[in-house]
Amino acid sequence: MNYNELIKRLKTVSPEEYEYEARLLTESFTDKKISYILSHRDEDICSAELESALLRRESREPLQYILGKWEFYRQEYFVDENCLIPRSDTEILVERAIELLPMGASFIDLCTGSGCIAVSTLAERKDLCAVMVDKFPKTLDIAIKNAAHNGVLDRTVPMLFDVLSEEDRLCGRVFDAILSNPPYIRPEVIEGLSEEVKREPYAALYGGEDGLLFYDKIVKDYSKFLKDGGFILFEIGYDQAEDIKRISEGNGFCCEIFKDYGGCDRVAYLKKK
Ligand SMILES: C[S@@+](CC[C@H](N)C(=O)[O-])C[C@H]1O[C@@H](n2cnc3c(N)ncnc32)[C@H](O)[C@@H]1O
Repeated sequence: MNYNELIKRLKTVSPEEYEYEARLLTESFTDKKISYILSHRDEDICSAELESALLRRESREPLQYILGKWEFYRQEYFVDENCLIPRSDTEILVERAIELLPMGASFIDLCTGSGCIAVSTLAERKDLCAVMVDKFPKTLDIAIKNAAHNGVLDRTVPMLFDVLSEEDRLCGRVFDAILSNPPYIRPEVIEGLSEEVKREPYAALYGGEDGLLFYDKIVKDYSKFLKDGGFILFEIGYDQAEDIKRISEGNGFCCEIFKDYGGCDRVAYLKKK
């Protein structure tokens, strides 16, 4: 197989990003430099590793799982089928956290997944420390590995528990902020998502029948873990701002919405009134 043939096969799976994917796959699974390959497109580049990666991609496995790592904010993350792939949309939340957290603060990242929110915030702010929570052992292991890989493990406390029912595990702790990108997609919307997204953990997507299960729970039952003046930053779906405002108001918070770079509502900032 040469580079042109690789491109042709990838084009059928990824009509919009095939060139980009071809570059990343050849960089990861051949020992040749991409600049060389691009100027020798007819030369054989096939290896067992590249062929196997391509077959996985042709089965609609996400590129990021095949590569095994992905960039988020300014850090590199290990990713596999046990965690949601970090999205650039989520970087807005990290930016706000870096800007808003007071000096020496502690925060909790509920539904941490790959750990991207906690780890990138800690990597950029050496004065902070964090608790990272997920319900699934294999997912929390990835977050721990990512915290170590990015040099922040000594400022994290990983905790394995169910955010929806086991908040008492935090008994006695208080934080300056709660950060969370919880599962927030409604089941009928999940059905219509791409094959690649449906290969990500269902538990990372499903936010209850109305998509608001985790927001309701966290606003109602986790505010007791906030210090005076503390705040919550949520990632939200582009169409959830009004619901989040309603939930906030109903529980004594005021709520401000920030947009992502695409102009969609993306982050909710909640502060006690
Ligand atoms: C939308 S993903 C977000 C992952 C990561 N914070 C990010 O922004 O990429 C939600 C995460 O919540 C976790 N999760 C789902 N249900 C949970 C529960 N009941 N308690 C704790 N974590 C849960 C999933 O394992 C998944 O890692």
